[in-house]
Amino acid sequence: MPSIEHPFLDPARIRGDLYTQPDRLASRTRALLTARIKGTPVVDVLARLLRDGLTVPLHQARILDVGCGRGTTSRALTELSPAALVALDLSPALAATTRARLPQGRPCAALSADLHRLPFGSCTFDAAVAAFCLYHSPDPATAMAEANRCLREDGLFIAVTKSADSYSELDQLLTDLSLLSDDTGRPSLYSSVHSTNIADIAAPVLDVRQLLHERHVFRFDTPEHLAQYLVTTPKYPFAGTARELARELRRRGCPTSIEASSTVTYLVGGPRG
Ligand SMILES: C[S@@+](CC[C@H](N)C(=O)[O-])C[C@H]1O[C@@H](n2cnc3c(N)ncnc32)[C@H](O)[C@@H]1O
Repeated sequence: MPSIEHPFLDPARIRGDLYTQPDRLASRTRALLTARIKGTPVVDVLARLLRDGLTVPLHQARILDVGCGRGTTSRALTELSPAALVALDLSPALAATTRARLPQGRPCAALSADLHRLPFGSCTFDAAVAAFCLYHSPDPATAMAEANRCLREDGLFIAVTKSADSYSELDQLLTDLSLLSDDTGRPSLYSSVHSTNIADIAAPVLDVRQLLHERHVFRFDTPEHLAQYLVTTPKYPFAGTARELARELRRRGCPTSIEASSTVTYLVGGPRG
């Protein structure tokens, strides 16, 4: 069983402060995306993998996006003009945010449901995407099997996760600035499903066809920018505002430009033939 001290695996936090409202996720995503200096946008890689891997033309494809969050990936998927796009998230507020952000007049929908028990019949979709959500699952093999159940037999499953060591440079920085007492015993947020265990988790429940890794590099150009990321990341115990933390970072001599990195991993597979 996962430790409930692990913020990304604690059901109370997943259903509570992390995702009850869209603001915290929006802030974290914005801080990261504006810091990225190296790495292909995830939505571009997903578009290529879908184009290459689907056995039907994109305009005929029915795509499921599980753990859609605020719908950032879902919106990009609708740009591919699929026959249908269904986005799903455990959080009713985030499903509603996605619904509001999806383009009007397109065949798309967003609903609230648990990715371990999908409310769809077997063989409903041509592709299923699970981007940056499986690391919230205490049972990711069941989550992957469930997505695969909903795919046609030659359907495409794509999961995206990060390396366990993602952004570890920030742990080191905060330890050096004595803002963390020490960084030992601080679990990776991605310990459940990460770059090096995802294929082993997937192999018993689906046909793993491809594994891609790309190192992304992020540069935070001011303590304010860094603080924006740190206060929205549940790994760290900062209770105040980003402005207060930025002031504290400056006071402790935080360098103005901070780099951190993360490997983004794509697993491509599908139901066994
Ligand atoms: C980091 S966000 C995902 C971002 C989104 N996929 C994207 O690419 O922009 C993680 C999401 O997983 C959702 N989630 C966590 N556990 C879930 C579950 N059991 N079923 C469905 N969604 C879940 C959370 O509510 C949260 O919105």
